[in-house]
Amino acid sequence: MFLRALTLLGLSALCIYLFVTAPPPLPEEGKAGAGTTIPMEQAFAVLAAENDEARRLWTQEIVGAGKKVGLSFDEDWEREEVEAGPLPALFLKETARQMQRMSTDLTFFLGSDAPIKEANRFEGQQALEFAEIRATGEPQFFEDTEHQDQVAMFPDVASAAACVSCHNDHVDSPRDDWTLHEVMGATTWTYPAKAVSLEELLQLTEIYRASTRGAYERYLEMAASFEDPPVIGDQWPRDGERVLPSADAFMEAVDRAVSSATVLKLFDLARADR
Ligand code: HEC
Repeated sequence: MFLRALTLLGLSALCIYLFVTAPPPLPEEGKAGAGTTIPMEQAFAVLAAENDEARRLWTQEIVGAGKKVGLSFDEDWEREEVEAGPLPALFLKETARQMQRMSTDLTFFLGSDAPIKEANRFEGQQALEFAEIRATGEPQFFEDTEHQDQVAMFPDVASAAACVSCHNDHVDSPRDDWTLHEVMGATTWTYPAKAVSLEELLQLTEIYRASTRGAYERYLEMAASFEDPPVIGDQWPRDGERVLPSADAFMEAVDRAVSSATVLKLFDLARADR
């Protein structure tokens, strides 16, 4: 808890340093930077960097290392008779579902123009913006004219051979010619405000992390009901046994990874501003 407070304070201090424009207000302790506004485009970039790290951790440390010690991951992970965890795209979907259950206007979604699951197909304005991502490889930021939401779409790239082979071989995939490093889809974020205060951005990152925790806890609950349940504690599958980190251990690792990613992102944004 103490460490966590320190991390958040550290981020606050950095945000003040990076975003406050002259003349800088004298921040009161605990309310630091309350007057700072951060354009939503930059806030989305911070959230997207968090999401990249959480997904990388899930993919490498739980799915990748887990398979080597006998754990399974499957698109039908939610079915009771299937003893498996969610594939990376489905872990994101579960995170998004957990987010929906919280009282927040923040949403996120992983879609594509050639999805395995038809419900993941981009439509309307998002389909047009995704065509732009395909053409340029660049993230897109725009206002949803129908719902007046701010929207950011970040390319989701085939970063590993497994992305390509699994999608190409899948019976429901409309394409069988995906190639390595191709843009396969986009993580898509929406929020109603055009800018947020520093405090609001920190709240949004907290909501995002709580959603990740919720998704992970749901997997642990399923794993506990397996016929031969893995031991849940401080150890990770990379330690070579059929074990899973507890929700606290998993989130500590996510926090560590995302906090440094967030700090780096903020530095990038500040540099780009100068
Ligand atoms: C073992 C199979 C498998 C692997 C590996 C895999 N995916 Fe998927 N992916 C799926 C399935 C199945 C879905 C549909 C999930 C659902 O029901 O919403 C999906 C969904 C997606 C979607 C949403 C659009 C759609 O197709 O429905 C994107 C984008 C995506 N994956 C990208 C990736 C990327 C990038 C990687 C590698 C980093 C990857 N996938 C690895 C099986 C896989």
